[in-house]
Amino acid sequence: MDNELLGRINELKRERNAIILAHNYQLGEIQDIADLVGDSLELSRSASRSDADVVVFCGVYFMAETASILCPDKVVLFPNLDAGCPLADMITAESLREEKEKHPDRTVVCYVNSPAEVKAESDICCTSANAIKVVESIPEGREIIFVPDYNLGHYVATRTGRKLKLWPGYCPSHIRIKAEDILREKEVHRGARVMVHPECVGEVIALADEVLSTSGMLQYALASDEREIIVGTEIGIIYRLRKENPKKMFIPASEQAICPTMKLITLEDVLWALEDMAPEVRVSEEVRIRARASVDRMLEIV
Ligand code: 13P
Repeated sequence: MDNELLGRINELKRERNAIILAHNYQLGEIQDIADLVGDSLELSRSASRSDADVVVFCGVYFMAETASILCPDKVVLFPNLDAGCPLADMITAESLREEKEKHPDRTVVCYVNSPAEVKAESDICCTSANAIKVVESIPEGREIIFVPDYNLGHYVATRTGRKLKLWPGYCPSHIRIKAEDILREKEVHRGARVMVHPECVGEVIALADEVLSTSGMLQYALASDEREIIVGTEIGIIYRLRKENPKKMFIPASEQAICPTMKLITLEDVLWALEDMAPEVRVSEEVRIRARASVDRMLEIV
């Protein structure tokens, strides 16, 4: 059945001139059929550079929306509309507008994990891979509002020495990783390196050797000679880490760090999306143009 399913997906991909993009947290079988598996920055970039007519985006909603912001001429299919990002839902354009009214001179940096309308209200976007560079690109002395991820903002403030006004949003999967988890695994795996995602809480980041985006982790694992690495992020990344580094050992910091919505898209959903050319994600042109300006400013920097 699976072979039949895969055959049909490939046939439709050719017919529709489609590519499949998948985030590093997607189910293994989805990663295996994707043309590109990557972090938020890589996926945005490859959506905009591809000459496909159709992008099947396997990730969470804001990622498909970002692809649509960057590629208005392509059809962006999002195989399961229930796959939202709880962090992105912790801010609305209206609540950000209220904050901007209170601090009209501040520059707004928004993490890509946010709705298109919030990007449209922001000056510049960032991802976990480039947040430090984006903040450093803002002239010294300019005050900054960083939305919506508190932990990423706190990490960036620490690393850049810049004062950021932080939003109280958080990733429910990353905050499940506790400092005790890292300490326990370090005790069991003496000498193992620790890499964590910057959406983790400050106490966890303080125990890490490396703080990296998901693709940053994959690059680090490939390049380093470390045999054992403790991994502080959503456990979906372990699949690709092990596949690309069969001789190395990857230890999830916490088995509880699971993003349920990242696991919703199935092979059947991908097939049906290609058959029906739906569900499609399209951002209204008014919002798209303003959101695009904030994403483009980021892409010019990194
Ligand atoms: P990356 O851009 O590092 O892949 O992170 C995306 C994300 O949503 C992490 O929770």
